[in-house]
Order: sequence, then C-alpha cells, then structure tokens
Amino acid sequence: MDVFKVSGNGPLHGEIQVSGAKNAALPILAATLLTEEPVVLRNVPDLSDMRSMLEILQHVGAETRQLEPGAWEIRSQKISHIAPYELVRKMRASVCLLGPLVARLGKAEVSIPGGCVIGPRPIDLHIKGLKKLNCQVEIANGYVYVDASNMRGGPIFLGGRSGSTVTGTANIVMAAVLAPGTTRLECAACEPEVVDLCRLLIKMGAQIKGIGSPELTITGVEKLHGCEHSVIADRIEAGTFVIAGAITRGDVTVKGIAPQLLGAFLDKLEEAGLPMELGDDYIRVLPYQGSLKPLDVITLPHPGYPTDLQAQLSALMTQTEGLSIITERIYPNRFMHVPELQRMGADIAIEGPSAIIKGASKLSGAPVMASDLRASAALILAAFAASGDTWIQRIYHLDRGYEHFEQKLSAIGAKIERLSDKEMPKELLDE
Ligand code: EPU
Repeated sequence: MDVFKVSGNGPLHGEIQVSGAKNAALPILAATLLTEEPVVLRNVPDLSDMRSMLEILQHVGAETRQLEPGAWEIRSQKISHIAPYELVRKMRASVCLLGPLVARLGKAEVSIPGGCVIGPRPIDLHIKGLKKLNCQVEIANGYVYVDASNMRGGPIFLGGRSGSTVTGTANIVMAAVLAPGTTRLECAACEPEVVDLCRLLIKMGAQIKGIGSPELTITGVEKLHGCEHSVIADRIEAGTFVIAGAITRGDVTVKGIAPQLLGAFLDKLEEAGLPMELGDDYIRVLPYQGSLKPLDVITLPHPGYPTDLQAQLSALMTQTEGLSIITERIYPNRFMHVPELQRMGADIAIEGPSAIIKGASKLSGAPVMASDLRASAALILAAFAASGDTWIQRIYHLDRGYEHFEQKLSAIGAKIERLSDKEMPKELLDE
C-alpha cells in the first residue's frame, strides 16, 4: 500500500490547476445510460472512483472508450438492469444507477450501498422519490428492486432531516426526464454538481426548468439522444488548494474555478482575514502577517458551507489564534480526522456535532491514518504546517477523489512524496 511522506516546506508559490469534479462526473457517467446514442464526456478526472463507475457501466453493458486523457465516449446500446453488490460496494455513488436504469429499462436491481466512516448513508429519500414517480419499490437481500413499468411524473417533496440530498436529487431527476407527465421536485439539491448534471440532460434533450433552484419542473420526453459535455470544475479540490495556500502563508493561484461556486467558503475565509484576489476563473491566495481570525462555521447544503471542506478548514483553524467552532449539520460524526490532528499537536474538543478548535497550535509531524477522502486532505494540509515529517497511511482514500494530488502540490513547492509502506520506518507502521 502507498503512503505519503509530507514535510513542512514553508510557503507554497505558484499556479495550480483544478480538475473536473468527481461528484459531478459520477452521476453524469451514470446518466449516459439514458440513451442508446454515444455520449462524449470531457474533463473527467483520472480517479479510482471514476474507474469504479466505468467498470459498473461496462458490467451493465455499456461500451466505454477513452478518446484521450480526460475524455471518454460511452455508448449504452444494450444494457441490463442489474448492478451487483461486488461492484456497488466499492463506491456508494453507484446508487446513481437507479434513476437511469428505471428510466431506460422500466426496472432496476441495484445493491444497497453500505454506510461509511463519515456516518450512516441512508437512501430512504431516493426510494421515496421513486415511489412518488409511481414505481413499485421493494427491498430484499440487500438490493433495491424497482418496477417502473407504470412510472409517471408527479409532485415530490424530496427533503429530509438534513435538507436536500445530492445523489437523491440526481437519481430522481434522471428517472423523471423519461417519465410521462410533469414532475415538480421540491427541496431539490442546488449543488453545482446537480446543476452540471441537469445541463448534460438538457443537451441530451431533457426538459428541465428551475435548474440551480430548489424547485425543478421536469417534463418527461420519450427519448434522449447523445451529446458532448465537459464536466464542471471541482470546487472542493479548489477549496483544498486555497487552504494549502493559506496554511503555508503562500502565494497560490488556483486556476480554472469560478469563485461563485465557492461563495460560502470564500466568505468565511474573507471573515478570517485571508487576503485573496478573485478573478472570473481563478482564486489567488496572498501571503499575510500575523494570525487569521477564528471562525464559527456550520456545514449546510449548498449554498451553505460545504461539508466536503469541513475537515480541511479544521486543519487551517488549528493555526489560527483563538477559539473556532465548526459544526457538522450534514454528517454529525464526520470528525475522524480529529484524533489524528490531535496526535500532531492540535487542540480540538468534540462536543456533539461540533469541533471546538483552540489555536494556534504548534504542530509536529507524526504517523497518522487517513480515514476518508476529505480527512486525508486535512492531514496533508496540517502536515504542511507541521515541523518534521508526517507519514500518512491509507492514502487510497485520497486517490478516490483528488487527481494527481501530490504532483500538483509538488509543482508549487510542497514536499510530498508517495512511497510504498515498505519504505516507511517499521516502527511507525500501523499493523
Ligand atoms: N440523507 C437521508 N436520506 C437519503 C439521502 C440522504 O437522510 O435518502 C441524508 C444524509 O444522511 C445526509 C444528508 O441527507 O445527512 C445529505 O446527504 P446527500 O444525499 O446529499 O449525500 P450524498 O448524495 O450521498 C454527496 C457527495 C458527498 C457529499 C454529500 C453532501 C457524491 C458522490 N457524494 O453525497 O461527497 O459529502 O453529497 O454534500 O456526490 C465526498 O466527496 O467526500 C463526499 C462524501
């Protein structure tokens, strides 16, 4: 297994390019099943999650062809309706197959993905939405069985305890675009990744009004056709690089991202006093003297502060003088990075769904364990601010969602090396 060896190397300097968004590309890949015509996708990031989704598409019968790095042609002429456990268990987002399969084939049999380290990941809202589309849904033996032979549009309120659902909205929109009649979806997720999916569906011939708002009106059409689409930039990757600049007091220009995709995040960093320059498609982080100000942040569905940038902000707040409070409203247990940050010297207490962070702490390198994708990023960011070497194990979590992470950061001055765990000092290795 690979590990990262990261050493604090002072301020980062230079330009760093953002890749295509994982969380847009995954449902978009699933959406290619909605037509028998070829769909060409560009700006698809090279990630292990993408390879898992492509494998599932191939399993159900799609032909996938890489045209060049980042560009894929997918043609789903003859497909089957079954997504088995051994493929779905690799990646939760494979639940996004439900919508396209029921829309295209009138039935689906998809294994239910398990929870994960960030907490339970229920799919009750996906099922509620399908039932509201007049589908028969049954759960047995760990599978969702859907009979959509009488599917038709209707009114659906898709909100849950924490508000909207991102992949739930994606699923119901993908089902509704081919359902006879009109679907009015209330409390739809407004995340830019859902907007990007809707834009692709429009190019395929779907009729969707209200894109980007919590109320979507979808008029079913008989057939969709092929198209070309370029996946939106990854705002979470961009936010991670912004924090890399901030935590090292560097001068870093994050390129290829529209700042308005990161409204709540940039607002908080501005409140903290981070000097930044915002262009149409870039964010430049500028060096600063003294300390940033502590923050009180609550994660919320878009346009609120994103949960996927919670762990990274926690790392930054360990370097800020004063008390910061970061409250998780989406995944109240998403604090697996905290014990690892504590091992590096951070002063953090968990109180219910909140992390109370007292800064500024003098961090020092330690062997730490990545527990999920964003926690991995947070540990690397903390390592940039720490003295000595930090060894990060289980970085396969990071590879699921950050394209060429160490190459991009090395190019702006980070000291980050990918090594085999055999090269790690034996006494530091976690068995
Ligand atoms: N929820 C329900 N019932 C459902 C679905 C969701 O109660 O049927 C709850 C969840 O438990 C959670 C909240 O609703 O409390 C929001 O969950 P959502 O469904 O929006 O999450 P998701 O679609 O499973 C996507 C991203 C996650 C990101 C969340 C929140 C993808 C593939 N995944 O997950 O990304 O954290 O939205 O923004 O789009 C990541 O990239 O690291 C990641 C975990």
